[in-house]
Amino acid sequence: MQKRFFFSIMFKISILALALPSAQNSTAFAAGTLTMGTSADYPPYEFHDTSSGKDQIIGFDVDIARAIAKELGYELKVIDMDFNGLLSALQAKRVDLIMAGMTPTEERKKNADFSDVYYEAKNTIVALKANKIQSIEHLAGKKVGIQLGSIQEKDAKKIAEKTKDMKVVSLNKIGEIIQEIKAKRIDAAIIEDTVARGYAEKQKDLEFHVIASDSPQGSAIAFPKGSKHVADFNRVLKKMKDSGELSALVKKWFDKK
Ligand code: ARG
Repeated sequence: MQKRFFFSIMFKISILALALPSAQNSTAFAAGTLTMGTSADYPPYEFHDTSSGKDQIIGFDVDIARAIAKELGYELKVIDMDFNGLLSALQAKRVDLIMAGMTPTEERKKNADFSDVYYEAKNTIVALKANKIQSIEHLAGKKVGIQLGSIQEKDAKKIAEKTKDMKVVSLNKIGEIIQEIKAKRIDAAIIEDTVARGYAEKQKDLEFHVIASDSPQGSAIAFPKGSKHVADFNRVLKKMKDSGELSALVKKWFDKK
């Protein structure tokens, strides 16, 4: 009797020992790893967080990507690069997808397939309060910073065509743009509202004003042309929209005061 009991326990333990590691790793083994390229200079979409002692890239985009990857059974790896290098990294297959608050423009669609739009934004003019630059008309004679390769670069160049002596200054990182404003080497910048708000809340000498734009400003996930992932990601995005998970993330990252 005792012996049988002993064997049955041993049997169960060995089954557990076999089953546990594979259960733990099943997601990783099932589908593999997806590498997401981003430009982590864009709080609250994506930025470096060192508050835990180690350097992590976190934000709205990262949370969405992790939720979708988990649902589809992938591990997610996030790598940081200049915004301007993202699409070529995608084409060179150095990344599997891009999430960087990236707007699905017609031009970009020639080289990438995009998911549905998951968030809408607006352009703003950011400047030192002391400069009193609050509308497009105030940009005459000014140096205006934008991120290299962004739609704001295109928008700024269009505005410059109609604005006397406005000069467009292209920089790699949003952080550099803010520094250049503070150092008065440029007078203003064109940056999306949610990002501008974050900087203006932290740095009280900055202000921002929304400007009208004829091009759409939404964010979507980019994949290589013909990627099989687009449909799956859209399915999970829709599920997250319907269940309220997406609005909970919007609240988490954009509504904190
Ligand atoms: N939405 C704009 C674009 O697609 C700007 C995105 C910038 N993103 C970033 N992570 N710096 O061009």
